[in-house]
Amino acid sequence: MDDKKPAPDDDGPFFARREILNFSWKLLAIGLAAEAAWTSYDILAPKRSGAFGGLVDAGPVTDFKAGAPPKYFLDGRFYLSRYTESSGDVLVALYQKCPHLGCRVPFCDSSKQFECPCHGSVFNTAGEYIKGPAPHGMDQFRVTEKNGHVMVDTGSIVEGPPRGVLNGPAQAAGPACVTGSGAAGTSPPASPSGSATSPGSSPSASGSP
Ligand code: FES
Repeated sequence: MDDKKPAPDDDGPFFARREILNFSWKLLAIGLAAEAAWTSYDILAPKRSGAFGGLVDAGPVTDFKAGAPPKYFLDGRFYLSRYTESSGDVLVALYQKCPHLGCRVPFCDSSKQFECPCHGSVFNTAGEYIKGPAPHGMDQFRVTEKNGHVMVDTGSIVEGPPRGVLNGPAQAAGPACVTGSGAAGTSPPASPSGSATSPGSSPSASGSP
């Protein structure tokens, strides 16, 4: 009788498992390297021109007349507003994001002020603080002129003027769009009455930038 025990399986399954494991590790390493490369590119790559984060061509200087309502630029997330102060007309690019808690601030055609529908902060056409819980005026972007066009650099934000600085209009030109706007420290109105609009577009109130 041949009591020779059957030979154990050869090392095939063991090596197969090891190869699968090695392959998995290599796959993981490649995935991590690709992720790191993409993240670095996303951080270091220059921002697309003409959109938020880059230099935005807002059009010919002649498009912005004194007394006209601020013009809204959806891609750049700002308003270009021309207001008059003692030294003359000033063109300012105002970031749409409320300096209080970040809601988008629409322009009210009747009051001719920016009125935040979230907690009622109000700013004049210069973006200066009028009332409400905002800590300061609307943040701004640098404006330059190139070949007769207004260029807005949305790559760096300039903090808005502190409370108390008032070179632009101090009074509303008419009824407010947001009921109860300006009541410092109040809760957000459940349903703002009226509509705050801006030329060409009307950004909704939200926490997005
Ligand atoms: S987010 Fe604008 S007043 Fe609060």
